[in-house]
Amino acid sequence: MTRHLYVHLPFCAHRCGYCDFVTVVGRTGQHAAYVDALLRELALERDRLAPELETMFLGGGTPTFTEASALERLLQALPPAAEITVEANPETVTQELARRLRRLGVNRVSLGVQSFRPHLLSVLERVAQPDTVRRAFYHLRDAGFDNISFDLIYGIPGQSPSDLEADLGDALELGPEHLSCYELEAKPGTRFTHAHGEELARQADAMESYFEIVVDRLTSAGYRWYETANFCRTPDRPDGRDLRAGHNLAYWLGRDYLGLGIGAVSTIEGCRWRNTPRLPAYVSALVAGRRPERELEPLPLDVRQRERVMLGLRLDEPLLVDGLGDVLDGRALDRLQRLGLVDRNGRTLALTPRGRMLGGGVTADLLA
Ligand SMILES: C[S@@+](CC[C@H](N)C(=O)[O-])C[C@H]1O[C@@H](n2cnc3c(N)ncnc32)[C@H](O)[C@@H]1O
Ligand code: SF4
Repeated sequence: MTRHLYVHLPFCAHRCGYCDFVTVVGRTGQHAAYVDALLRELALERDRLAPELETMFLGGGTPTFTEASALERLLQALPPAAEITVEANPETVTQELARRLRRLGVNRVSLGVQSFRPHLLSVLERVAQPDTVRRAFYHLRDAGFDNISFDLIYGIPGQSPSDLEADLGDALELGPEHLSCYELEAKPGTRFTHAHGEELARQADAMESYFEIVVDRLTSAGYRWYETANFCRTPDRPDGRDLRAGHNLAYWLGRDYLGLGIGAVSTIEGCRWRNTPRLPAYVSALVAGRRPERELEPLPLDVRQRERVMLGLRLDEPLLVDGLGDVLDGRALDRLQRLGLVDRNGRTLALTPRGRMLGGGVTADLLA
């Protein structure tokens, strides 16, 4: 039985130039019909889900831009879960919204901060200003949220190393439980890539040192670097809470998950499918009582094993390699071990801190 559920809420007030997620601008009049469709899809897939879930993640788009009564109806109808995360854009977080989310059982919020520097927020075409972020954070704290994550982006055109230091300092001053720090990616076909793609390509070499700044600053502040781009506060006591992002951890550990909504991906019992990204086609299929159109991706054993290695080595805990030997290149493994990039210990494998800095390249070398 699947214990992890992702729900996609695609609506955004505007489209940021760098974003290629499945989003739909505005369409306030269609939010209720979309939520109806989501609940129909849930009813069709309910048998795949355990009665009580470990994690549920409402991602977007901007879930908190969804019309209030539609979002409330959705949260009331979804199955119970131990960890319920909602992604929020700072400018949407009012005192009322924060209280409503809390009352509806949400216990984790992932806030799209990106930067605290006005000139960089403007390059990213963000609506929220640094004060909007701080206000949103305090509304969430006041409403009782004790598990808040920030998304930050580095490598923004015009961002100096001291801008990055200052962003990390501002984030640490607020003290969220969790931080995700992503290198800005030039997504093909976006306005942003058209305008800044060449600049991003030119600065690519500098990004290793930016990543080092992120890791040094956050680990020195006591955060655990538990996944390539993710950091969490460590418990004060040995029996304290594990503040890693439970839902994402399920992906990195290769667990099954169900995704609902346009563009949502599901991986269950060795099958993967992706729902149509088209809103009208999704809604009309479900109104007619049918599953939405889906793209199926075959997942032969070797593909699953490779994924397991690629995702598992992003974590700071060693990966058990039993049964994964066929996809590992023994000679590359010896070489990377000699270079101090990989640690092999009996039946487990892990990247060293240096190996983790180099990340994907080392893992790609390891795969036969
Ligand atoms: C689903 S997205 C957006 C969530 C929310 N709507 C927002 O804008 O804050 C989740 C996160 O992905 C990251 N992201 C989006 N596009 C990116 C890109 N081109 N490069 C790097 N990170 C990106 C951002 O940090 C963002 O907060
Ligand atoms: S970055 Fe967030 S707010 Fe901007 S378009 Fe993408 S999902 Fe919407």
